[in-house]
Amino acid sequence: MKGIIFNVAEKAVVELLGEDAWDDLLEDAELDGDYTALGTYPDEELLALVSAAAVRTGHDPGDVQRLVGRHALPHLVASISDFLEPDLDVFEFLASVHSIIHVEVKKLDPNAQPPDVIPERVSDDELRLTYRSTRGLSPLAEGLILGAGDHFGQPVELEVLSGDGTEAVISVKRDSEAQRSAA
Ligand code: HEM
Repeated sequence: MKGIIFNVAEKAVVELLGEDAWDDLLEDAELDGDYTALGTYPDEELLALVSAAAVRTGHDPGDVQRLVGRHALPHLVASISDFLEPDLDVFEFLASVHSIIHVEVKKLDPNAQPPDVIPERVSDDELRLTYRSTRGLSPLAEGLILGAGDHFGQPVELEVLSGDGTEAVISVKRDSEAQRSAA
């Protein structure tokens, strides 16, 4: 896993649990934590940090991934401000992850292996995303999607239509009525 994912997870953990929390997790997981954005590190290290956070907080590991993903998304977006089109709505952003964002990620770093996040527009208010990766981090994907709703000011609700971690079909719905009347 690329170091940038550890870096944005650290930011999320500090936001959620406080300044010392990341160091505490590194200590629990017996890791030195020297992650640079372009380095590549064993996936097991991320999973060990998730387990350590689960033990400390009492959340299950899936919920830890969701929380961390949700709070990490703005930091990932900030890292690609160079090529992210302005004025995207949340569905346009999510639909661009597969065809643009993860493609650019691979161009910049051929060693990167981002997951498939394949979009299918079902209706004006629903997008389906199919997550596929041998890493089995679909709860992290759910968190990132929720974080996109927060970040783009268009809250979304998720329903996992099918999935086993390595492949999941996630229905993403936005409430246009509520958003129109709030506007
Ligand atoms: C809501 C939008 C996004 C979703 C659902 C998503 C999903 C994921 C997930 C779940 C992973 C973990 C690896 C795996 O499961 O195989 C991942 C990895 C990654 N993503 Fe995304 N992502 C999103 C947006 C972004 C953005 C905005 C960036 C911009 C930098 C980005 C860059 C990366 C990188 C660099 C990796 C690491 C790949 C590797 O370690 O080889 N993603 N993504």
